[in-house]
Amino acid sequence: MRWAVLVGGAGSNLRAILASGFPVSLVVSHRAGVGALAIAQEHGIPHHTLLPRAFPDRFAYDRALVNLLRAHSIQRIALAGFLRWLTADVIQQYPGAIVNLHPSLLPLYPGLHAIERAYADRVLWSGVTVHFVDEGHDTGPVIAQAPVPRYLSDTLETFADRIHQAEHRLFPRVLWALDAQEVWLDGGQVCYAKEDDQWMYGRS
Ligand code: GRF
Repeated sequence: MRWAVLVGGAGSNLRAILASGFPVSLVVSHRAGVGALAIAQEHGIPHHTLLPRAFPDRFAYDRALVNLLRAHSIQRIALAGFLRWLTADVIQQYPGAIVNLHPSLLPLYPGLHAIERAYADRVLWSGVTVHFVDEGHDTGPVIAQAPVPRYLSDTLETFADRIHQAEHRLFPRVLWALDAQEVWLDGGQVCYAKEDDQWMYGRS
C-alpha cells in the first residue's frame, strides 16, 4: 500500500514511523522549512510543501492536495502534525483511508493545545489517540489509544515528552496494523482481525 504522511512540525512522529521500517511514499507539509521536511529529504522520500496562503480557500487547497496524492498513487494517508481540517472533498476521496494522531485521550481535549490544556487541568491521566478521520474535528472512530500519566512532579515539558514518547510507540504500530489489514473501518465501525490484540491499548 502506498502511504503519504501529512506533516507541519518537527517531524518526530515521521522519524518514528520511518525508524520502524514503515514505507512512506510521500510527505506533504502545510508549513515551509519544518523539521519533518528535512527528515523526508534525509530519507530520500518525495516531499512537497503546500502553503495555505498560495490558495484562495480551503477547497482549492484540498484540490491541490488530492492532485498531489493522486500523482503519487497514494492509497492511505497518515496525519502527523498536519494542523488543518481536511474538507469533505478529500475525506470522501479516501474513505476509511485517512488516520490522525492526536495527543490526548479523545473525546477529551480535541483541537489545538491538547497537551497544554490537559496539563493545566491537572488531570492524572491523559494519553494519545489514533483515529480514522471523518468530517468532524477530532471526532472520527478511534482505532487505538495509549494512556499516559501526568505526575504531580511533572512540568509541562516532562509531561509533553511522555506524551510524545507514547505517540512514537503507538502510531507506527497502528500504521503497520492498518497496512496489514489487521484493522479497518466498516460502516463507520472499527473492526479488528483479532479481538484480543493488545496494540490498540498502546501495549506492544
Ligand atoms: C504531535 O503531538 C501530534 O499528535 C500532533 O502534532 C504533533 C506533531 O509532532 N497532531 P511531530 O511533528 O511529529 O514532532
